[in-house]
Amino acid sequence: MKCVVACFVICVLGVAQGVNITACKQDDAACLKASAQAAVPLLAAGIPDMGIASMDPMYIDQVKSLQAGLAMDFRNTNVKGLKNCKVLNLKRFPHRTDLDLKCSVTMEGDYTLGGKLLIMPIEGTGKYRIKIRGVVVKIQLDIDEKPRDGATYWMVKNWNYSATVEKDVHYKFRNLFNGNKQLSDAIHEFANQNWRDIFQDVAPPIVKVVVGRIVTETTKLFNHVPIEELVIR
Ligand SMILES: *[C@@H]1O[C@H](CO)[C@@H](O)[C@H](O)[C@H]1NC(C)=O
Ligand SMILES: *[C@@H]1O[C@H](CO)[C@@H](O)[C@H](O)[C@H]1NC(C)=O
Repeated sequence: MKCVVACFVICVLGVAQGVNITACKQDDAACLKASAQAAVPLLAAGIPDMGIASMDPMYIDQVKSLQAGLAMDFRNTNVKGLKNCKVLNLKRFPHRTDLDLKCSVTMEGDYTLGGKLLIMPIEGTGKYRIKIRGVVVKIQLDIDEKPRDGATYWMVKNWNYSATVEKDVHYKFRNLFNGNKQLSDAIHEFANQNWRDIFQDVAPPIVKVVVGRIVTETTKLFNHVPIEELVIR
């Protein structure tokens, strides 16, 4: 009886929360991919009842780093476009899940840069916008199973990822060099011509935060929905 009530409550909550994830067999690649794809916009919108924050837009208060002679500080960043990510692949293994996404996102906020962009001196603070088209993010999750209240849940133990841009990246930093237009135009031309190398220098700290947030928010779903509702075994 207790279970019936619990199941009823979970089902009603499931529908009320707008979580409608199709359970798949572990080795049914097509089903897993379609099910994950259907979950992308639901998760991106956020699920307040599960404490899952919106991921489109995703707000990042600050990412600060110093690498390759370039000091970077990105503040008040809004990342837009994650709800349109395409699931390229979802593979389940007993203790691992591989998720490959292809996304196009725009990041906008405030920046401060100082140092060298590859070989070019750069200096400035103001508004920025970075448009990334066709970034393939491969996420690998190490997963354990934890029993709780008669059900089993996934627990993400560890994760890593790689990010490769397939199309291009466009950079816009307002007010570089205190508004010196000549210097600013020159560096924008340089940056947008060498977008791939610049991406490797500039993007990793912020991409890591974005992917980390995707993993953290998705993990909250795994904390609320037992494996039995996610996969058929
Ligand atoms: C859940 O998804 C399935 C398959 O897409 C659909 O048939 C069903 O109506 C959906 N249920 C709810 C409550 O949205
Ligand atoms: C994650 O790390 C493992 C072990 O180091 C490596 O084999 C794998 O390629 C990495 N995955 C990604 C998506 O980078």
